[in-house]
Amino acid sequence: MEMLVVNGGSTLNGRIEVGGSKNATLPVMAAALAVDGPVLLRNVPNLVDVHTMSQLLQSLGADIRRQDDRLEIDAQDADGIVADYDLVRRMRASICVLGPLLARYGSARVSLPGGCNIGHRPIDLHLRGLTALGANIRISGGYVVAEAGQLRGAEVQLDGRHGSSVTATCNVMTAAALANGDSILRGVALEPEIDCLADFLNACGADIHRADASTLVIRGVKQLHGSTAEMIPDRIETATLAIAAALTQGTVQIDNAPVQHLDAVLAALSRIGVNLQQQKTTLTIDARHSLTATDLTTAPYPGIPTDTQAQFMSLLATVQGTSVVTDRVFPDRFMHVSELVRMGADICRTGDAAVVRGVPHLSGAPLMACDLRASAGLLLAALAADGQSQIRRIYHLDRGYVRLEEKLNRLGANITRCEESALSTV
Ligand code: UD1
Repeated sequence: MEMLVVNGGSTLNGRIEVGGSKNATLPVMAAALAVDGPVLLRNVPNLVDVHTMSQLLQSLGADIRRQDDRLEIDAQDADGIVADYDLVRRMRASICVLGPLLARYGSARVSLPGGCNIGHRPIDLHLRGLTALGANIRISGGYVVAEAGQLRGAEVQLDGRHGSSVTATCNVMTAAALANGDSILRGVALEPEIDCLADFLNACGADIHRADASTLVIRGVKQLHGSTAEMIPDRIETATLAIAAALTQGTVQIDNAPVQHLDAVLAALSRIGVNLQQQKTTLTIDARHSLTATDLTTAPYPGIPTDTQAQFMSLLATVQGTSVVTDRVFPDRFMHVSELVRMGADICRTGDAAVVRGVPHLSGAPLMACDLRASAGLLLAALAADGQSQIRRIYHLDRGYVRLEEKLNRLGANITRCEESALSTV
């Protein structure tokens, strides 16, 4: 298995470009199953999760071709309706095929994704939305079994206890796009990845618009036709790189940055004392001075993304003073805390929050990545730590970042990817 060996202490400087968004790409790929024609996606990141979604679509009969950052999906002759456990368990976003399959074929069997390292992840909102559109849904043998014949337009309330759900909105929106009649989806997610999917579906002939921020109005159409779409840049990768620059007290220019999607992240960085300059698609971070402890709370968009919580925690672990980091989206997403503590951080978890008392230095240590964004948080902490860290289980990191260590090395980091068995020779 591969691991990263990080020699900490470098300051990041220079210029780097952000790739296409993972969380925009996966639902769009799944929605291509509902399209009667070839689809060409551009700016698709070359990630493990994208490969997993490709395998899932192929297992359902779709034809997939990849060239550089372009992905062609042709599901015209696809006829599979069973999303198998072996693929779904590798990536929760596989649940995004449920709505498209149901819309196109009137029935679907999708394995239940189960829990994961960031806590309990129910799918009740997906099922509530699809049921409101006329689907008959039961759980059998670990699978969601959905039957609908023809879906029909309806008014659907989609928000839950923790706010809106991104992938539930994707599933129900795609299903409603092909339903018989009009739908009004209330309490939908506001994330920009939802608009990327809506733009894609509209380019394929759907009729979807946001009546207000949290309401989608959808006029059902009979069929979707092939089209092309450009994936938006990844706001989480941008935030990760920005926080890495701040942690190492560097100056970094990030190109192709979706600055318009990062208001809350940039406001938080400013509160921490990082100097930021934004232009249309360029973000410059300057952290060559002391920073300030700050309380942060994650929330659905436009709030601070839960997907940046671990990275922010690594930053605050080295900032003098006390910060409280609260996760309102995934209240149990704190697996990284114990690893950071092993690096000398002073962090104490209490309920859905962690109290972080900044220490002057973290020290390198053997570390275990535990989920995708936590791995990024640990990698950032290792960059700033004294000495060497070895990060194992980096397959989590590779699910959502394209060779992040190569990007960081281009900015001056000292990170080597190697086989665990080769550790003694590094
Ligand atoms: C998406 C992102 C993930 C991000 C998360 C929150 C993708 C592929 N993944 O995941 O990176 O961390 O949004 O921004 O886009 N919930 C329910 N019932 C449901 C569904 C969700 O109660 O049926 C709750 C969840 O437990 C959580 C909250 O709603 O507390 C948000 O989850 P959700 O937006 O659904 O996350 P995902 O779409 O799975």
